[in-house]
This record gives sequence, structure tokens and C-alpha cells, in this order.
Amino acid sequence: MAGKSSRIAIIGGDGIGPEVVAEGIKVISALGVNVDVTEFNLGGERFLQDGHILDQDDIEQLRTFDAIYLGAVGHPKVQPGVIERGLLLKLRFELDLFINQRPFKYSNHDFIVVRENTEGSYAGEGGVLRKGTPYEVATQGSVNTRMGVERCVRYAFELASRRNSRLTLVHKTNVLSFAGDLWQRTVNEVALDFPDVETSYNHVDAACIYFVQQPEMYDVIVTDNLFGDILTDLGGAVSGGIGLAGSANLNAAGTGPSMFEPVHGSAPDIAGQQKADPRAAVISAAMMLDFLGYVDEAAKTRQALQSTIEVSGTTSEIGTAIAEAI
Ligand code: IPM
Ligand code: MN
Repeated sequence: MAGKSSRIAIIGGDGIGPEVVAEGIKVISALGVNVDVTEFNLGGERFLQDGHILDQDDIEQLRTFDAIYLGAVGHPKVQPGVIERGLLLKLRFELDLFINQRPFKYSNHDFIVVRENTEGSYAGEGGVLRKGTPYEVATQGSVNTRMGVERCVRYAFELASRRNSRLTLVHKTNVLSFAGDLWQRTVNEVALDFPDVETSYNHVDAACIYFVQQPEMYDVIVTDNLFGDILTDLGGAVSGGIGLAGSANLNAAGTGPSMFEPVHGSAPDIAGQQKADPRAAVISAAMMLDFLGYVDEAAKTRQALQSTIEVSGTTSEIGTAIAEAI
């Protein structure tokens, strides 16, 4: 796309995050895409330096970019939940990144999980009473709004209709009867607007079996935040490992930037050793290019990933091999 230029905010983050993101940027440069990148020092490492996680000013700055490219956040010296809630989930919620799209490839078949990304068990509803006593009570509810469910379901239908017109709702309607009913009714109602899309339903536990035994049955899956979280780790495991799983956190309404990140974590045990596979980050970069409108460049990146799939080596060697294949 001659003449076009995009501003990308980079959050390398913790552990292997900065290493894998560097390879994604290497690939983008090899494509000749005109991007202007700005690095943000955020994550567990930064939190340990000065206590800063993510404030309103960071959010307002990030809002001005076309996209955010994130490596991984999470640090073994920071208590679990602090960075996850304070940074990653805060970005998803504040920037209204209501779709978490995760594609998988299983031999010659590919399928996509569309995970709701701003509600459900992640919403932070609940609390604790009499903490630390034998009478402690903890609740953590799942918040499902008609608006939140519908915009996610609608997005999944649109995606399915551009692909093979098959959409599966995954939930646990037999037990989670209030939330499950809202999801199922919403799918039934939105389906009327997409008469060509064939819909089906699987309970999440059964879907785990099908993911392993017959993933070919899926094309587009739509599911809630927590089921989507778990199912996409499984999806990664059955389709070449989590090292190949990329993701897009989309503000599909286009009212702000979207964020692209590998599904894997910060892997502190191998950080700084050039041992991480950068492919999930490169796949996420390809999703970012697609979303920014560099469709040919995204396709070229996927071809280069395909033709170098056998290459092994350091993080940087793999990134260079992909960049050279371009
Ligand atoms: C993911 C991660 C996050 C999530 C964590 C780090 C909060 O597991 O992106 O899947 O649960 O969404
Ligand atoms: Mn996860």
C-alpha cells in the first residue's frame, strides 16, 4: 500500500515479550510497510522499577495509535493478578477490545475462536467477606450483557459468512442456565440476519474432546471470555503448540486501536536467552497488518511463515529466516 503509513505502539513487556516482538518488527520492516513505532515501557519489570502499571495518561496516549503490538506481560516477582488485571485486562476493557480472535491451523484445516473479551468472569464482579477467617466467603460472578453478547455474536456471524458459513456456539447451557440462555437466544436471533450461516452448539467440555479428536468439524466458534481463554490454550496445543498461536484483541467497532499479541505468556524461565519461538508474535503481526489494511503484506507474511516452518534456531535466527523468505 504505497503512501500509507501507520503508527504502532509497542509494548514488549516482560520475559520473552521484547525478544519475540523484535522479530515481528523485523518482518514488518522486510515487507517495506511504512510504520512509525513508539515503544512503551510497561509490564512487571517496569512495575518493580517504579510501581507504575498503567494510568489514564498511558491509555489516552495509546488511544492515538492505529494499533498496539504487545509481547507478553507477567513477572515471577510480581504477585499474580496485579499486571494481568492492572495492565492487560485494563487495556482490553478501557480500549473496548471486545473481540479476542484466535486462529488455529490443524494440518490443512483452519478454524477461528471468537472469544468475548470484556465481560463474563473477567468483569471483576464479586468480592470477599470475612477474609482470612474460617467464615470467609468469596464470590466471582460472570457478567453477560445483551449488548456485549450481541456485538460478539454478530461479529462471529459476519466472520463466518465471509468464510465457510459455519458457526458453533460453545457454552455450558445445561448448567449455566441464565448466561447460557442469553447466549443461545442471542445466537438464534442474530442468525435470522444471516440465513446462509449454519449454526450449531457444543457444550464446552464436549468441545474439548472435539478439539483433540476432530477439529475439522469447526470453522468459526463463538464463546464467552473464560471458556474462550481455556479453549484457545487447548487450540494452541493441538495445532502445533502455543508457539504458533497468535491473537487479535479487536475494537471491532473501530472507535480506537486494536491490540495484537501472541497467546503465550512471558516464559520467564527462558527470557533473554533467544530460545523463544517468535512465530506466534509474527502471526500476530500478520493479523495486525490485515486489520490495518495491508492485506497483501499479511498474506506474504503467512506464506513466509509456511515456507520456513521447518527452520529452527535462536529467536533472532527464526525471525531472520522469515524476513528473508519475504
Ligand atoms: C490470555 C491470557 C490472559 C487471559 C491472562 C494473562 C490475563 O491467559 O490472553 O489468554 O486470561 O486472558
Ligand atoms: Mn489464556
